[in-house]
Amino acid sequence: MQPLHFPYTKCSRKLTFFALLLLISLASPTSSCTEKEKGSLLQFLSDLSSDGGLAASWKQNGADCCEWEGVTCGEDGAVTDVSLALKGLEGRITPSLGNLAGLLRLNLSHNSLSGGLPLELVSSGSIIVLDVSFNRLRGDMQELPSSTPSRPLQVLNISSNLFTGRFPSSTTWEVMDNLVVLNASNNSFTGQIPDNFCSSSSLLAVVELCYNQFTGIIPPGLGNCSMLRVLKVGHNNLHGTLPNELFDASLLEYLSLPSNVLDGVLDGAQIIKLSNLVTLDLGGNNFSGKIPDSIGELERLEVLHLDYNNMSGELPSALSNCTNLVTINFKSNNLSGELSKVNFSTLPRLKTLDVLYNNFNGRVPESLYTCSNLTALRLSGNNLHGQLSPRIGNLKHLTFLSLAINSFTNITNALHILQRCTNLNTLLMGSSFRGELMPEDDFIDGFENLQVLSLNDCSLLGKIPLWISKLAKLEMLILSENQLTGSIPAWIEDLKHLFYLDISNNSLTGEIPTNLLDMQMLQSEKTTTSLDPRVFELPVYKGPSLQYRIPIAFAKVLDLSNNKLTGEIPPEIGQLKSLLSLNLSFNALRGQIPISVCNLRNLQILDFSNNNLTGAIPAALNSLYFLSAFNVSNNDLGGPIPFGGQFNTFQNSCFDGNPKLCGSILTHKCGPASTPPPTTMATKQTDYKAAFAIAFSAFFGVGVLYDQLVLSRFLR
Ligand SMILES: *[C@@H]1O[C@H](CO)[C@@H](O)[C@H](O)[C@H]1NC(C)=O
Ligand SMILES: *[C@@H]1O[C@H](CO)[C@@H](O)[C@H](O)[C@H]1NC(C)=O
Ligand SMILES: *[C@@H]1O[C@H](CO)[C@@H](O)[C@H](O)[C@H]1NC(C)=O
Ligand SMILES: *[C@@H]1O[C@H](CO)[C@@H](O)[C@H](O)[C@H]1NC(C)=O
Ligand SMILES: *[C@@H]1O[C@H](CO)[C@@H](O)[C@H](O)[C@H]1NC(C)=O
Ligand SMILES: *[C@@H]1O[C@H](CO)[C@@H](O)[C@H](O)[C@H]1NC(C)=O
Ligand SMILES: *[C@@H]1O[C@H](CO)[C@@H](O)[C@H](O)[C@H]1NC(C)=O
Ligand SMILES: *[C@@H]1O[C@H](CO)[C@@H](O)[C@H](O)[C@H]1NC(C)=O
Ligand SMILES: *[C@@H]1O[C@H](CO)[C@@H](O)[C@H](O)[C@H]1NC(C)=O
Ligand SMILES: *[C@@H]1O[C@H](CO)[C@@H](O)[C@H](O)[C@H]1NC(C)=O
Ligand SMILES: *[C@@H]1O[C@H](CO)[C@@H](O)[C@H](O)[C@H]1NC(C)=O
Ligand SMILES: *[C@@H]1O[C@H](CO)[C@@H](O)[C@H](O)[C@H]1NC(C)=O
Repeated sequence: MQPLHFPYTKCSRKLTFFALLLLISLASPTSSCTEKEKGSLLQFLSDLSSDGGLAASWKQNGADCCEWEGVTCGEDGAVTDVSLALKGLEGRITPSLGNLAGLLRLNLSHNSLSGGLPLELVSSGSIIVLDVSFNRLRGDMQELPSSTPSRPLQVLNISSNLFTGRFPSSTTWEVMDNLVVLNASNNSFTGQIPDNFCSSSSLLAVVELCYNQFTGIIPPGLGNCSMLRVLKVGHNNLHGTLPNELFDASLLEYLSLPSNVLDGVLDGAQIIKLSNLVTLDLGGNNFSGKIPDSIGELERLEVLHLDYNNMSGELPSALSNCTNLVTINFKSNNLSGELSKVNFSTLPRLKTLDVLYNNFNGRVPESLYTCSNLTALRLSGNNLHGQLSPRIGNLKHLTFLSLAINSFTNITNALHILQRCTNLNTLLMGSSFRGELMPEDDFIDGFENLQVLSLNDCSLLGKIPLWISKLAKLEMLILSENQLTGSIPAWIEDLKHLFYLDISNNSLTGEIPTNLLDMQMLQSEKTTTSLDPRVFELPVYKGPSLQYRIPIAFAKVLDLSNNKLTGEIPPEIGQLKSLLSLNLSFNALRGQIPISVCNLRNLQILDFSNNNLTGAIPAALNSLYFLSAFNVSNNDLGGPIPFGGQFNTFQNSCFDGNPKLCGSILTHKCGPASTPPPTTMATKQTDYKAAFAIAFSAFFGVGVLYDQLVLSRFLR
């Protein structure tokens, strides 16, 4: 038998090959496209202003348009699919595609198509999936006349374009009675959310209308959408309460209405009807009242966002029954009582708990420490007290911890415990642990992944402790507003990643150590920081774009203000080329302003005020184009104020308290002997003003680190 085996296999292969040939020869004649269809496709191509090489590709593939890139035909040779996403297409979409009578699916997403969306496509008698998302289409969506027969369209994705005008709200949706998915997010539609989406059919499962300018209320008619699973209408201007009818859409899994002006209370009797909810996002509205007990019946709930509302009262203990919860965000409400109302040990999947800015009191519940997957915990801005439990060390995945603005005690204990959370990269403990001693013992170790440490405003006594020198990955260190004494340690330069150092408002003495001016991160020419935006498991910015975790990186900052530093400003200060903000104000520094300060080309903020500086203000400071805030008041400076550049924008008060200064903006005019040097900058005024405006807004776009408000003092 053995010798027969080989030829047999060979034979069967041949057979398969023949079968395949047969199949192809049967299929291909029927699937070659008609001249008319070919014409429609070529018309589409020729109406583009840039085809991204598509014409060449189609030419290469021969005369049968069914063989063309991105084109698929059915058995009868009619074009069924045109799939040309991400092809670099530019120009208008021609209505000729509407002539493809058998077209079922059209995908033109992620191109740079402009102009309007031809009505022929939206009202096509054949298309079931139309995706033109992520283009630059503009204009408004015309209403389909009621005389239009029922349309087959099931998926309409027109999101992320530049559409404007009133959103169709009447006959269109009656005609589109097969629609299952509608995505019109990220445009500039106005008007109301249609009340009649489901008046003639109820197949609609997904409605996404986020990031538009919709006004009016949440329409009660949505309650008739019995198949609705996803409703996302966040970031509009919707007002009013949640209509009771909405809760009839009992299949809803994803209800997301953030950043509107909705109000009213969460009606417990209604909310339990949505027993399929997985995500509930009502953040950034004006909801008030208590979180209803019945929330515990939402067993599938994974994500609960009620942040930035006006919710009050205690947490319902029934929340413990939502055992699938992964994310809880209650930040910025008026919730009160003890967190221990909730038994967190029944929430094993919990990854994020954010209760920033509420009125919670009592202790951190022990049950929280059983949530071993917890990665981000923000308890700041409450009235919590007590010592940290050793069990927090069990949270091995914890990367972000904020205990700031509370009344916790025993910082030594806290640090000893937290060093066991080896993944911690952000630790914010400011405005708590008040009046204690800065732990200085050598037992504090670990923290090998710590990138951000804030211990501001705790009135801590003691010195800048040596254990900080062991935090090899530290990038931001904030020890401001304590009562630290002693000198600035020389080891600070060993922190090779440190780019943000704020030790202001302490009682530090001695000279500015030259080691400080060897800080590597402040010397590189690059202004971009190395701080990985993903460091912050929770958003720490209160800026214009809250939806992003980090709009732009933190600025490079050196703030030594309000201490008792003496001696001269070392000329090596000119090495810190990437500094954006340098503040040495309110110390006892003397001597001249080193001319090397003029090398700090990226400076936006320079404050030397309230020292004992003498001599002249270096004239070349006028070449710091990005300087937007400058203050040398209350020193003993003399001579002419630099002229031109940003100096034309600074006010008198920036120079006050220096009787020997003279200049055109001061009452003390300079004599002929001290005419300021002419500057080439003055003529380029508009250029640098524009550059400055960009830099300025970039910097201030950073906003406020909300736990700490560390940057707020720059914003006064
Ligand atoms: C269209 O194509 C893009 C890119 O391939 C894809 O992400 C998208 O899901 C497609 N749209 C539809 C409706 O399938
Ligand atoms: C457009 O929406 C449809 C339906 O939700 C989706 O399948 C498709 O992926 C979306 N297109 C893009 C480019 O994301
Ligand atoms: C909104 O649309 C713009 C332009 O198409 C796009 O760059 C941006 O990523 C979109 N935003 C979202 C959240 O999809
Ligand atoms: C809807 O559009 C938005 C913006 O383009 C996009 O982020 C989202 O993923 C889309 N949703 C679906 C289901 O395609
Ligand atoms: C919902 O459907 C019912 C029955 O079809 C109808 O009477 C009612 O008017 C509809 N509600 C809205 C708000 O469209
Ligand atoms: C929020 O709702 C309260 C009533 O609970 C109302 O007095 C207040 O004006 C609303 N605020 C906004 C910004 O709509
Ligand atoms: C917050 O809700 C309370 C009632 O719980 C109401 O008296 C107060 O006006 C609301 N505050 C705002 C700012 O809407
Ligand atoms: C959680 O659910 C169980 C069973 O459904 C119920 O007996 C219990 O009262 C609920 N717990 C809370 C705190 O509501
Ligand atoms: C927060 O709630 C407390 C009662 O718990 C109340 O006294 C206080 O006025 C509320 N604050 C706001 C801003 O609504
Ligand atoms: C914890 O997280 C890991 C990894 O993300 C996951 O595999 C595991 O199921 C989670 N545990 C629980 C209880 O959710
Ligand atoms: C603070 O914590 C340390 C270390 O855990 C402990 O030895 C000390 O007794 C605590 N101090 C107070 C006042 O509880
Ligand atoms: C500044 O110097 C003068 C004398 O040179 C001295 O009297 C004064 O105390 C100094 N001020 C500060 C704040 O050090």
